[in-house]
Amino acid sequence: MTHILAITGTTRRGRFSEKVAAWVVEQLVARDDFSVELVDLRDYPLPFFDEAPPARTRRDYPTDEIARLGRRIDQADGFVILTAEYNHGYPAVLKNALDHTFVEWQRKPVTFVGWGNVGGARAIEQLREVAVEFEMAPLRHAVHILPDLMVPAMRSPDPFDTAVFAPLEPKLKTLADDLAWWASALAVARAHDVE
Ligand SMILES: Cc1cc2nc3c(=O)[nH]c(=O)nc-3n(C[C@H](O)[C@H](O)[C@H](O)COP(=O)(O)O)c2cc1C
Repeated sequence: MTHILAITGTTRRGRFSEKVAAWVVEQLVARDDFSVELVDLRDYPLPFFDEAPPARTRRDYPTDEIARLGRRIDQADGFVILTAEYNHGYPAVLKNALDHTFVEWQRKPVTFVGWGNVGGARAIEQLREVAVEFEMAPLRHAVHILPDLMVPAMRSPDPFDTAVFAPLEPKLKTLADDLAWWASALAVARAHDVE
């Protein structure tokens, strides 16, 4: 069975990404075609990237903290990146985490759940370009959370009721079906690689 990581792309206080992460993980753990775990970038407080290029140094990690993130990504067969849109781009904390690593992402599929005024579409399009440089396979299907669901989700009392996002369940299912296909196809292909 393949293993998928859902990655929270924002770390700021009061972040919306926690609500998205709760919903995405709840939906994906119910599937029996892959296992899923959440990677919260808050658990990997990295300095601003200031090292030799990881595409060259590969798994020769300069610090234990980077090694911890790198090994986590290494164990996965595919990714769902949960991204906000900050000033029409993706969050810097997410790019910083990506730049600390490289080979761990290669030849694995990545898809996205975004939110914001245009459902994070601009951030997601930019991330698709970044994914190509990492030799990932960025997928067509994504989920875009627009203000019509963001606003009720923000107003929802604690604990957050993930049912707010129920109208997007068919979209998330399509995303997950596609991700499952690519994750297992590329896992088989990678098994033939000689590093
Ligand atoms: C620095 C900053 C810039 C933002 N820029 C945009 C933007 O360009 N487009 C958009 O739709 N929302 C933008 N927003 C609003 C975010 O969609 C909203 O704050 C969302 O909750 C951010 O996700 P987070 O709470 O997980 O950080 C911005 C928010 C912040 C903090």
